[in-house]
Amino acid sequence: MAAEETRLSEAFPMKAGAGPNSYAKNSTYQRGVADAAKELLTKAIAENLDTEILLSSNTFHIADLGCSVGPNTFYAVKNILESVQSKYQSKGPNSQIPEFQVFFNDHTTNDFNILFKSLPHNRHYHAAGVPGSFYGRIFPNASVHIVHSSYTNHWLSRVPKDVTDSNSPAWNKGRIHYLKSTDEVVRAYEDQFARDMECFLHVRSQEIVNGGLMVLTIPGRPDGTPHSHAAANVTYQLLGTCLIEMAKKIWKNRNFYKSIQSLGKYCIPNFFLIISNTNDQKDKIKPSKRNWRIYVAWFVACRRYFFLNAATCSLNMQGIVSEDKVDAFNIPIYYMSPKELEAAVEQNGCFSVEGMEILPYVSTLHSVAKTAPLIALHVRAATEGLFKLHFGDAILDELFDLYCKNLVAQHCIFKSTEVFNFFAVLKRKAN
Ligand SMILES: C[S@@+](CC[C@H](N)C(=O)[O-])C[C@H]1O[C@@H](n2cnc3c(N)ncnc32)[C@H](O)[C@@H]1O
Repeated sequence: MAAEETRLSEAFPMKAGAGPNSYAKNSTYQRGVADAAKELLTKAIAENLDTEILLSSNTFHIADLGCSVGPNTFYAVKNILESVQSKYQSKGPNSQIPEFQVFFNDHTTNDFNILFKSLPHNRHYHAAGVPGSFYGRIFPNASVHIVHSSYTNHWLSRVPKDVTDSNSPAWNKGRIHYLKSTDEVVRAYEDQFARDMECFLHVRSQEIVNGGLMVLTIPGRPDGTPHSHAAANVTYQLLGTCLIEMAKKIWKNRNFYKSIQSLGKYCIPNFFLIISNTNDQKDKIKPSKRNWRIYVAWFVACRRYFFLNAATCSLNMQGIVSEDKVDAFNIPIYYMSPKELEAAVEQNGCFSVEGMEILPYVSTLHSVAKTAPLIALHVRAATEGLFKLHFGDAILDELFDLYCKNLVAQHCIFKSTEVFNFFAVLKRKAN
């Protein structure tokens, strides 16, 4: 099963721990979305959960897929649990409330330690961790009553293969995401999404009991709008331009450094010649015009060299960010529209769509210029692992500082975009 999981999906967990850059500290936006979905979640359970399910088992199984490290998962689980309890209570004062078992799922590399350490003390459920990609089987047949997942389905199982293949027409040169890319790149992402969603629905259809529910909160884009309409896509486009900017700067500095090295080799003897000329035989020998020019060039070059940012120099030396490396890097995220999800559900055939609602607006990107540091921290907490894996961690501070600066400077690019989240309620049809 573990090998199967690795094959099925690459893992890019959120920033672990509880430090200032951690997901636990930088997921208030996702919490806001969960708040916006709370009422719909309660309604979905009240209206759609089959009463036969309630009677069929003494233990009610809830799964939160892509739970990350909290605290949002605990909030969502509490809301689900209370909604199911009130559904039981609505059946009459004598109805027996079952025990609850909650499965917290995420990639094996998720920080489950911190998740378990922060489990609420006053919880009314048994908790268990279920490691593994949700693009594969993670539960036994017909064993889960409610599957919940929030802010996870935009993560693809992998970067589409062709976008990193320099021989493919879908090679995504000079970009890290599909926005403003060629049609082939966009199609490669769309195809990967379609394959992943097909897989996701297929495995869930095996795991969820007949009449069971799947409630999903998804960041996406409105039906019938281009990808450029989704603000989230624009954030990744901007992040890509920051990487390119860094690669160009580093490349320039590297060439400059090389020229200083060769200039140094040639100039240092001349420099000492000049010094000795001017000190010892000041009156007799004046440095030639040529030597003076070289001296000045050497001096200016050394000054520039020593004042170059030390971090940039070390990146420069190690070649951490190069344009080639940027070309080989892409973000495995896709923002679907409600219609795309509906089409996938229809094709799968095992679920009925009981509800599809647009969530109220949660403001963060409202004033990009003002909230840039917050946005940068949120994006960093969610994607830092990806960048670290490909470029190493030496670039992270510089990258996200530049990102924050560019968010302010280029906030206009968000003008005609929309922050769009929707809520979907799917019900497992009877076999
Ligand atoms: C943005 S976080 C959302 C976390 C939490 N649900 C919330 O609302 O705050 C996305 C989570 O989905 C997880 N994830 C992404 N793809 C996954 C997969 N294929 N299988 C399991 N977890 C996945 C990530 O590891 C990450 O923890």
